[in-house]
Amino acid sequence: MSGRLEGRTAVVTGGGNGIGRACCLRFAEEGADILVADILDEPGAETVGMVKERGREALFVHLDASSQTDNEQVAAEAVERFGRIDVLVTAAGISHSGYVSGKTEVDAAMMTEAASRFGQPGAGIIGLEPDGWRKVLDVNLTGTMLATRACVPNMLSNGKGSIITIASIAAKRPEAGPYAYAVSKAGVWMFTKSLAQDLAKGGVRVNAIGPGFVATNMTKMFMEIDMVKEMVLQSVPMGRPAEPVEIANAALFLASDESSYFTGEILHPDGGFYTE
Ligand SMILES: NC(=O)c1ccc[n+]([C@@H]2O[C@H](COP(=O)([O-])OP(=O)(O)OC[C@H]3O[C@@H](n4cnc5c(N)ncnc54)[C@H](O)[C@@H]3O)[C@@H](O)[C@H]2O)c1
Repeated sequence: MSGRLEGRTAVVTGGGNGIGRACCLRFAEEGADILVADILDEPGAETVGMVKERGREALFVHLDASSQTDNEQVAAEAVERFGRIDVLVTAAGISHSGYVSGKTEVDAAMMTEAASRFGQPGAGIIGLEPDGWRKVLDVNLTGTMLATRACVPNMLSNGKGSIITIASIAAKRPEAGPYAYAVSKAGVWMFTKSLAQDLAKGGVRVNAIGPGFVATNMTKMFMEIDMVKEMVLQSVPMGRPAEPVEIANAALFLASDESSYFTGEILHPDGGFYTE
C-alpha cells in the first residue's frame, strides 16, 4: 500500500537520527512532506536529503526540544512552508543528561560509573544529580509538551490531526537506577492520555508508542558490550532489537486514517517484552 499520507504534512522532532528519522522516511514514502527538527544540524540536514530522494518536500529547523521559542518556531515554519500540520511525532529524546546522539564514548563513561555502584542500596538516588534529572525531564517530558502545545492550534483549526509521542517500555516497569528517564517516559504516557481526552472532540487524536529495545545510537553502547547485550536481549522474547523502521511502521499506522478510532492508546512494538 502507498499514499497513506498523501498531501499531508508531518513535523518530526528528533528527526535527525534513529526512530525520528525512520518516521520521516516512512511517512515520505507514503506521500507526506516533512519538517525535520533536531538539535543536531548535520544529521537533520541528511534526513531532509533522504526525504527529498523519496520525492517529497522537506525542511530542517534547528530545535532544542526544551525551548518554548524553538518549538513555536518549528510550528510556525511548518505552517508557513506547508500550509498546515497534520501529524506531529515527538521523537527528540535523551537517555541521560550527557547524551548526545552518536557520541558513544559519553554513554560508556556513564555506564562505567553506574556499574561501579551497581547493587548498592540507594545507589540510584544518591548518585542522582538534580541538574541531570532536570535536563532529562526538560527534554523528554517538557519537550513533548512544548512541541504539542505549539502544533495543536493549527491542528484544531483544521479540525483534524494526529499526535504521536514516543514513550518507552521504561514508562511502566520500575528499575532501580535510571530514574529520570523512566519518570520522564511515564510522564509522556500520562500526558498522552490526558491530552487525548482534551483534544478528542476537536478531531485531534493523540497516541503514544512505547518501544522496547531499538537498534539506534541510544542503544549502540549496550550492543557493544557482550555481557550487557546478552542480558538485555534475554528480556526480549523475540531475542533481537527492533529496527527503527519497525517503530516507524507503528507511527505510520497512528498517523494515518487507519487508526481513526484510536486515541489515548499506547502501542508497544517490543518483541514480546510486555506479554502479561
Ligand atoms: N532506542 C531505544 O531502544 C528506545 C526505546 C524506547 C524509547 N526510545 C525513545 O525514542 C526516541 C528516539 O530515540 P532513538 O533511539 O531514535 O535515539 P537517537 O539518538 O537515534 O535519536 C534521538 C534524536 O533526538 C535528538 N535530540 C536529542 N536531544 C534533543 C533536543 N534537546 N532537542 C532536539 N532534538 C534532540 C538527537 O539529536 C537525535 O537525533 C527517544 O525519545 C527515546 O527515548 C528509544
